[in-house]
Amino acid sequence: MHREITQGVYYVGVDDTHTELFEGLWALPFGVSYNSYLIVDEKIAVVETVKEPWTEEWLDNIREIIDPSKIDYIVLNHMEPDHTGALPHIAKIAPNATIVYTERASKFQKSFYDVTLKERIVEDLEELSLGSKTLKFVHAPFLHWPETMMTYLVEDQILFSCDAFGAFGALGGRLFDDEVDMALVEKESKRYVSTIITSYFKFVQRGIQKVKDLGIGIKMVAPSHGPVYRKDPMWVINKYAEWSSPELEKYCIIIYGTMYGFNRRVAMKLKRQLEERGVRVIIHNVSVSEPSEVITDAVRAGVIVLGTPTYDAFPFPRLWHFVNEMQCKRLQKRPVALFGTYGWGGGGVKKTREMLTEMKFEVLEPVIRVKGRPTDEEERQIGELADRIAEALK
Ligand SMILES: Cc1cc2nc3c(=O)[nH]c(=O)nc-3n(C[C@H](O)[C@H](O)[C@H](O)COP(=O)(O)O)c2cc1C
Ligand SMILES: [Fe+2]
Ligand SMILES: [Fe+2]
Repeated sequence: MHREITQGVYYVGVDDTHTELFEGLWALPFGVSYNSYLIVDEKIAVVETVKEPWTEEWLDNIREIIDPSKIDYIVLNHMEPDHTGALPHIAKIAPNATIVYTERASKFQKSFYDVTLKERIVEDLEELSLGSKTLKFVHAPFLHWPETMMTYLVEDQILFSCDAFGAFGALGGRLFDDEVDMALVEKESKRYVSTIITSYFKFVQRGIQKVKDLGIGIKMVAPSHGPVYRKDPMWVINKYAEWSSPELEKYCIIIYGTMYGFNRRVAMKLKRQLEERGVRVIIHNVSVSEPSEVITDAVRAGVIVLGTPTYDAFPFPRLWHFVNEMQCKRLQKRPVALFGTYGWGGGGVKKTREMLTEMKFEVLEPVIRVKGRPTDEEERQIGELADRIAEALK
């Protein structure tokens, strides 16, 4: 199924409601869309392809409008396979087409697929005329890969923004911001930003500034996942600016693991002590909460509190996994508090602390280690830690 966006510009993307985990990591309770756009002018261009298993459905969408063998330009803003998997197939169908992308994307293309179509390497702000319509290419490195760019359709003022301004959630036949449930879009775009783009927040800020500095009108933002914004294109740009801004919020997140409940009891005591001090607390059990929800709530938290039982002399595996995520997502520096329980020799808290120190996070004192159940002294320490967290959030 296709949708006309404006005269001569069509949505030809697909919905994926099969994949359970995006990037093999993040749950997709509402699916995800791989957006692709067809521009029919004297020349025909398609912006992005789709993930490989959806090739036929995508070609069907294009066939409703034109014969895909007539495509002149395949514009690839980004080489990630959710947008390029169909490239080897379309290359066979449209052997005279030219791939349009950045120099870096061309190198990626050769290592991923080695498709031998003609190619046109575009410089930053270079233009390509399709007849009555003009494409302008805006390099946007690290949004979120090094080779990425956005494509701007000058006459219609549509920004094909690639993964930037995207959202999880399949479209189900709806397309525009005035047709979808925006409360769900807000939740799913924030979760998308937090999981996919957190490591590159400064490039989001830079990308937004670059688009603003170009002084171009934006009537529509058409990303590569999620809805097209026509009613209020600034909504998503402003949300992204807010979600990727360096100011943290005044709440704390407690992320803990537990096998038999000993560590949870410490977590709950700390939560109660914090709330008595007026601190807003979000709490996640790493065995129960969806990892993408944990990271989404952690990205903006003023203080992160980690609680780990010792498991075979190491931190609890799912908690340890989160600490690794803090590193690879380059979570902004902020105070971190730490507690944990153990049965005999311990090791969970010690190794977590070493890792946090190596990552240059400030670890709030006291770090609480509880053997079995908290002693009176450890109960007192929980109160003291709550004081320190409350102060850090002031
Ligand atoms: C599978 C397993 C492995 C454990 N490994 C260790 C260990 O290596 N060192 C230690 O001091 N305690 C170890 N413990 C004990 C727990 O760390 C301790 O009982 C802790 O209080 C459990 O908290 P929880 O009930 O919240 O999971 C282990 C417990 C389990 C169930
Ligand atoms: Fe991507
Ligand atoms: Fe993507």
